[in-house]
Amino acid sequence: MRVGVLTGGGDSPGINAALRSIVRFGAKRDIDVVGFLEGWRGPLENLVQPMTMADVSGILHIGGTILGSSRTNPFNESDGVEKVIETMTINAIDCLIAIGGDDTMGVAHRLAEYGVKAIGIPQTIDNDIALTDYSLGFFSALEAITSALDRLHTTAASHHRVLILEVMGRDTGWLSLMGGVAGGADVILIPEEFFDVDSIFRQIKRRESMKKRFSIVIVAEGSTPGGLNGQVVHEAEVDAFGHMRLGGVGQYIANQLSERMRIPVRVTNLAYLQRGGSPAPFDRILATRFGAAAIEFALKGAFDVMTALHGLKIEAVPLGDALGALRPVPEGLLYLVDLFE
Ligand code: F6P
Repeated sequence: MRVGVLTGGGDSPGINAALRSIVRFGAKRDIDVVGFLEGWRGPLENLVQPMTMADVSGILHIGGTILGSSRTNPFNESDGVEKVIETMTINAIDCLIAIGGDDTMGVAHRLAEYGVKAIGIPQTIDNDIALTDYSLGFFSALEAITSALDRLHTTAASHHRVLILEVMGRDTGWLSLMGGVAGGADVILIPEEFFDVDSIFRQIKRRESMKKRFSIVIVAEGSTPGGLNGQVVHEAEVDAFGHMRLGGVGQYIANQLSERMRIPVRVTNLAYLQRGGSPAPFDRILATRFGAAAIEFALKGAFDVMTALHGLKIEAVPLGDALGALRPVPEGLLYLVDLFE
């Protein structure tokens, strides 16, 4: 059997660990692996890279992806599907493993209609993919956020400031909520609950009345004072999958607060620093298990599925069921937002 693999969308730590697992576990099962470069651009333009044991040696602990990534969408080109199918035929690919988020795996699912046999591995720091407990990269990003909050605390406390940390997550607040809990943020803002600058102001004032002379606010990039269509965008131009680049809500809140605060309000946008670096142990293990499971599914002929973590088990879920729906922070976890308020 010959398996192709590609990595698409925003990178996250753990992708290389998954590639290593696919190749090493595949070799034990007599499976040849071929890599396609730069997401779906690889199959579109037949950009191929051999994936031998030597090619994946020494990459377990390295962030990003050795295959490169892009947000290419073959469905945006009139002959995109034909080109992808031709590449599969030229390279004698029996099954394609697509490592990515909703968009990357969404293409894999749509291609099933055209006879492409694909398996998805969920990868995004946002943790917003349905039907899996966690996606690859989430815990590594949390580590970066926690460490950033630890560092911000010292400056906030020393200089008596309000420091705002803006984190990613697109339309969900997994990173902000879990990062905020782990790093002890005083105010946690997530897209699932609209924020109100007055109430942020009151929370900071309450802390001041308790002789706390600093506050740390963590805000998800997609948070808004009302409605997802009110998100603050960095760039109005949309990518190949119709997404605008979010960013700037931290500064928006800082501007509003600064008018009323006596102490300085400053913003840090963690941006790509939370997506880079070495994968956390949890992501290395999850990647290794997802990679091995994808090979098992291919051998069993289970296609158009996604590897999913359910408790301690890795299971196959239909790709079509996992995609397209927003996976917000569940209501059962929302008490964490204002646990210590
Ligand atoms: O989907 C992952 C993600 O990191 C989001 O959290 C963020 O909104 C987006 O990607 C940023 O994308 P880009 O790499 O195109 O700036």
